[in-house]
Amino acid sequence: MSTELPPNRSREWFDTPELYGWLRRAAFKAEGFSESSYEGKPIIGICNTWSELTHCNSHLRDLAQSVKIGVWQAGGFPMEFPVMSLGEYNMKPTTMLYRNLLSMDVEESITANPLDGVVLLGGCDKTTPALLMGAASADIPAILVTGGPQLKGNWKGEELGSCTDCRRYEVELRAGTIDEDDWAELQSCIVRSNGHCMTMGTASTMGTMGEALGMSLPGNAAIPAVDSRRKQHAEEAGRQIVKNVSSDLTPSRIMDEKAFDNAIKCLHAIGGSTNAIVHLTAIAGRVGIDLSLERFDELSKTTPFLLNLKPSGQYLMEDFYYAGGVPALMGRIESILDLDNITVTGRTLGENIAGHLVHNEDIIRPMSNPLDPEGGLAVLYGNIAPTGAVIKPTAASPDLMVHKGKAIVFEDHDDLGNRIDDPDLEVSPDDILVMKNSGPIGGPGIPEWGFLPIPKKILATGVRDMVRLSDARMSGTAFGTVVVHVTPESAGGGPLSAIRDGDMIELDVPNRKLNLLVTDEELAERLNAHKNRAPDFKRGYKWLHAQHILQADKGCDFDFLRAESLQSD
Ligand code: FES
Repeated sequence: MSTELPPNRSREWFDTPELYGWLRRAAFKAEGFSESSYEGKPIIGICNTWSELTHCNSHLRDLAQSVKIGVWQAGGFPMEFPVMSLGEYNMKPTTMLYRNLLSMDVEESITANPLDGVVLLGGCDKTTPALLMGAASADIPAILVTGGPQLKGNWKGEELGSCTDCRRYEVELRAGTIDEDDWAELQSCIVRSNGHCMTMGTASTMGTMGEALGMSLPGNAAIPAVDSRRKQHAEEAGRQIVKNVSSDLTPSRIMDEKAFDNAIKCLHAIGGSTNAIVHLTAIAGRVGIDLSLERFDELSKTTPFLLNLKPSGQYLMEDFYYAGGVPALMGRIESILDLDNITVTGRTLGENIAGHLVHNEDIIRPMSNPLDPEGGLAVLYGNIAPTGAVIKPTAASPDLMVHKGKAIVFEDHDDLGNRIDDPDLEVSPDDILVMKNSGPIGGPGIPEWGFLPIPKKILATGVRDMVRLSDARMSGTAFGTVVVHVTPESAGGGPLSAIRDGDMIELDVPNRKLNLLVTDEELAERLNAHKNRAPDFKRGYKWLHAQHILQADKGCDFDFLRAESLQSD
């Protein structure tokens, strides 16, 4: 029996009698690679979101060297290439505006070039989902390697998490319990190394999702960025991708419905970021799976919250790594996972996590002693959010989970900035802060503005949380009783746009309700009078975004990027 494998995809670029095959060889020679470097070998792309403008990913060129060593060892030929990078701290108005653009860059860079497999290097919040979205659409063998979390912050002996504790101390600065000198000192103490935010924020959550989906080698998410084992891990990914090319282990073979269920269960067990709902929905859409918000909520009710990490808990990613990381966490919930799913190791999820032990019972709780019997995220519906809104109960105040309050309305983010600390603002701790026009179209880009600041006059009374409501997103590192992703968004005439100062709003998280307490007739009348507030872009990427962006319940992908099977939705 012949064991001959089909020719690698990349051969199409070289095995051509025309001038172009000759030129492509000449181009590789110009870089110092003779034909023996790549003839008969799979060409492995290293898709790199490195950038000095993205501090979380600034070490990824170094990590790429380790991937290359692994690829060479396994008989492949590595070629590193850059794609757009999305840095949370620097990009305005929000990296989320550009997540889909990066995903297109990834897909087109892969498909247009002579590549047989790809290792995806990301880390900062939007880079990881964009890499997975692009790789899912390109659908050649791919492995995700993230840059890993930063070391723990430390200030005056207190361990600090970026950026949960940046936000906490900013509140204390506004409340006057720390001073400007403290604030300046904190700036040097909180981000101490390469890597992404080391709480269970969006970056750590999406790294975990990569493992849960089966797109990363076991252990990837939690290895600290500067731990030597991160480089060893990257080297192993380089070796593995060569094997995956020969077995044609593509993302569409790995990321099926069961893989997404596994990821969602993991998301609830870790108390992960609300942003993961949007990102997982978008990734699923690329492989033809229409994930619904209902599915996230159903699985929340049957998955315990086990991982004691900030912002919902006490510890940080470095602690999680020493406690056993994602394989140990998944071992805790193996009875509710689908263990037969194939992963990038070429083995099943069950084989990957077998034998991984928990080394700290307070960090990774057993199912018999959860932090909460239900998962970390809940989906709300009602006349404010007919197609859904999201809250993270694990990071919220238990006494506000059922709450009725008077709306204090801000028309947009600028209005909020101008008035939130106005001494004349009539507001009490029981009120509900509402911000409009911050969704996918209105923001634009659904910025992370959902963590509305508590008015200074309320902070002065010692109160640190209020119910907040918007069509924006919330940073995964943030906390509080914050309802986000209200859909449909207000700029396009969603019911959020109809809320007025003084209206009563009812939040009931146990019963998944979010309602404006006015009559249906009154609400309809207000909505009829709605004036479109969407920004009017005339050209360029922002125009494209406005034409094609989907709402948060559909993952905020562009309609034309979802799999063909979902195009008619
Ligand atoms: Fe990059 Fe937080 S700023 S992950």
